[in-house]
Order: sequence, then structure tokens, then C-alpha cells
Amino acid sequence: MRFIETDSYGELSLLAANMLSAQVILKPDSILGLATGSTPIGAYEQVIENYNRGLLDFSEVKTVNLDEYVGLDERNRQSYRYFMSKNLFDHINIKKENTYLPNGAAENLDEECSRYQKLIEGFGGADLQLLGIGRNGHIGFNEPTDYFSREVYVEKLTESTIEANSRLFDAGETVPTHAITMGIGTIMRAKKILLIAGADKKDIIEKTVNGKITPLVPASVLQLHSDVTVILSKN
Ligand code: F6R
Repeated sequence: MRFIETDSYGELSLLAANMLSAQVILKPDSILGLATGSTPIGAYEQVIENYNRGLLDFSEVKTVNLDEYVGLDERNRQSYRYFMSKNLFDHINIKKENTYLPNGAAENLDEECSRYQKLIEGFGGADLQLLGIGRNGHIGFNEPTDYFSREVYVEKLTESTIEANSRLFDAGETVPTHAITMGIGTIMRAKKILLIAGADKKDIIEKTVNGKITPLVPASVLQLHSDVTVILSKN
């Protein structure tokens, strides 16, 4: 595991964007695993800047996102599909049909989970998976529990995660309680993993990088992967 500390969120974002950009330059038909949340927004902005400078071509890239809220369809501005369009996809030349997220509005969620799992397996896993991390150590929405999930599944979000997610919702909007997420096994299929975290995640990053490998700190499983880079911003 490579561990990098940066002095600022801007520096973290630039490093992460450079890694994503290098992946696309080296393998133009990359499968990029993407994350939502506040942390990757700066990296996506830098990727868009690189694209606008003419450095990147996404016409052959495919993306698979980690997760999506149950009950929200893609027109809902709180959905992760909406987030990805607004923060990245609408600003680069990626084909919409090459961007994949679970369908949180699917009638049969079990079928949707197995469809999404098979899709990712069909791609052979992501070439590079970008991850954020929850304060409780969740990656994707794999919340702390007593086992590691193998495949895509529906997770009941913990109170602390619902509380953290609620900051992005307006008063009166219902914050989803469940999400479809890649399982730990799905995430671990990625050839390379990049975990980024702001200064508020210092304690959980310490446990992730140096602590015991336990599903009670889901991100700690990354110690078992052969190609992981963790970037933590000190400030
Ligand atoms: C988002 C995701 C989550 C977030 C995590 C951190 O797709 O899978 O694991 O990465 O909740 O969120 P932020 O970056 O908002 O602190």
C-alpha cells in the first residue's frame, strides 16, 4: 500500500486527477471505477481541466460507479447518476451508454444487483477504482459488520451514514436509508485502487492503513490488495 499525505485538498485533488488522467492516457479503453460524495469533486474538476486542455479522450472509456441510492431514479437531483453527470460526465466526451451505475429505481433489486455484478465481472473488474471513505470506514456503502460482502448487494445505511449524507439534501427531502453498492469482493477485483480522504478522515485512515484487517473497518481489507494508493490531505 502506498500512502501519500498532501498539504491541502487542492493538492490531493490534483494528484488523484493525475492518476485518473494517466490511466486514460495509458489505456484509452479503461474501465474507470468511480465514486461520488464530496471528496472526489476536486479531482473531477481537475480531470475536466485536463480534458479541456486537450490532454484526454474519453471516447473509449467505460465507467462503473460504486453505488446508488435505492428509490431514486436518474432524474432525481440527489441520485448518484445525477451527481456524476453534473460533476463529470456532462463535461467530457464520454458516451452516456458507456457510463454505468446501479439502477436504484429498479423494481426487482435482487435482479438489479446481480445484473450489475455480472456487468462488472464481464469487464474483468475496474482498471482503476477511485474510492472515498466514510468516517466509520465504509467503502462504497459497505458498512461495518461481521463479514465482507462478496458481490453487489443492497445495504441498509447506518444512522451515522444517513446523517452524513443528509448534509447534501434540502430540508424536507427524505434521505435514502438503503443503497445498492458494489460488495467488498467487487471492489477488490479492481486492478488498481486509489483511496482519497480529507483531513477529517485522519483517524479512520490510520486504522485502514495500519490497523487490524476486519470487516468492522471495511476499508482495512485494502491491505490485502496488491496495488492500492491512499492519499490523505493533512489540512
Ligand atoms: C460514494 C461512496 C461513499 C463515499 C463516502 C465518503 O460513492 O461510495 O463511500 O465515498 O461516504 O463521502 P464524502 O467524500 O462525501 O465524505
